[in-house]
Amino acid sequence: MGSQLISNIGQLITNSDEELGIITDAAIVIDGQQVLWVGSNKEAPAADSTIDANGGVVTPGFVDSHTHAVFAGDRSKDYVARMSGQKYATGGIKTTVAATRAATENDLISHTRELLRKCHSHGTTTVEIKSGYGLNVDAELKILKVAKTFTDETTFLGAHVIPAEYENDRAGYIELVKSEMLDAVVPYSKWIDVFCDNGAFSVDEAREILQSGIAKGLMGRIHGNQLGDTGGAELAIELNLASVDHATHVSNETIAALAESNVVTTFLPGAEFFTKSLYPKVNLFFELGAKVALATDCNPGSSYLTSMPIAMSLAIREMGFTPAQALYAATAGGAAALRRSDIGHLQPGARADLVIWQAPTFEHIAYRLGDIDKKILTTGKF
Ligand code: NIG
Ligand code: FE
Repeated sequence: MGSQLISNIGQLITNSDEELGIITDAAIVIDGQQVLWVGSNKEAPAADSTIDANGGVVTPGFVDSHTHAVFAGDRSKDYVARMSGQKYATGGIKTTVAATRAATENDLISHTRELLRKCHSHGTTTVEIKSGYGLNVDAELKILKVAKTFTDETTFLGAHVIPAEYENDRAGYIELVKSEMLDAVVPYSKWIDVFCDNGAFSVDEAREILQSGIAKGLMGRIHGNQLGDTGGAELAIELNLASVDHATHVSNETIAALAESNVVTTFLPGAEFFTKSLYPKVNLFFELGAKVALATDCNPGSSYLTSMPIAMSLAIREMGFTPAQALYAATAGGAAALRRSDIGHLQPGARADLVIWQAPTFEHIAYRLGDIDKKILTTGKF
C-alpha cells in the first residue's frame, strides 16, 4: 500500500500530551503500517491516495488492555441474579470453566472471532486476552493458542480461581500452575496474571505464582482490589507489575503509592455495571498523577462488554473521569498498561491504528455511547 492522506480533520487526537495533543483543522499521512506525518490541513503533503474526514474527529484506535475474550457457554442467569440484587462472587467462574473445557479449539476460534469483530466495530484496534477459564493444562493451553491467533497480548491466568477438583488441595493446584501448566503455555503467553482477591488467591500465593512466571520470561499484571481491599495493588507496586486491574477498593495511601510507581491502574467500569457494584472514584488518582487505563474486562460472568466507548461513558458518568481523561485512558492508558509505545497515540512512528468519527468533537464518542458513523484503520490481526 502507498501513502494515504486523511484530510479535512476537525480534531486530530495525537495524545502527544495528557490533554490529548489536539490539532484542529488537521491532516495525517500514514503508509498503512505507520503514521508518517501529522499537522495542519493546509500544510498537508501530497500522498498516493486521500480519505476526506469531512470535518470529523480522528483518534488512535482503542487499546483494550483487559479481556477474557476466549470462553464458551452462557452466564445470563448470573446477570439476572446480579440485577435482582444477588452479590457477585467468584463461584460462577466454574460454569464457564466447564463449558470452555468441553469446547473444541475451532468452536473457541469462531466464538472469539465474532466477539472481537464486535470489539473492533466499536473502534478497538489492540486487544489483550487472558486465559483462566481452562484451569487444567490442556484447557489453558487450548485457550492461549486461540488467543494467540488474534493478538500478541496474551496473558496466562491459570490462577483465576482454584478449580473444583483441587478444592481440597490449594497447594497442589498452585504447584501445577507454577510448573507443568506454566511450561506448557509460555510459548503462547506474553503476560502472567493472578486474580488476587476474596474467593481467589491471597497476596502470598499471588506473589509466588507471579514470580514463577516472571522467572520464565513473562511480564506481570494483576487482578486486584475488586472485591475487597486485599493487597493486590500493594503487590503490584512491590513487583513493579505493568498494571493493577479493577482497583475498586484502594486506600488513599495506596493510591499515593501507585502514583509514585510505574504501575498503571486499569479501571473496568463494565464490571461494576454488570455486577451492580459500587464504582470506585478516580479523583484522587488524577489529583496525584497516577497512570490510569480503561478497559472492558469483556467476559461472560462480570462484564459482557465489547464497547470501549460505553466503558468511557460509564467511567465519566460513574467514576468522575472527564471525557478527555476517559479518551486518554482508553487509548494511551491502555498502551501504557501493556508497556507499548507504538500504539495509543498518533505521532509520527506510531502504528497506523486509528478511527475516523463522523462527529464534531471527541466528547461525542462518550456522549453518544460510540454510536457514530466511523471508519476504522487497523494494522493488527483483526
Ligand atoms: O475480571 N475478576 C475476575 N475475573 C473476571 C470475571 C470472572 C467471571 O465471573 O467469569 C473479572 O471480572
Ligand atoms: Fe478480568
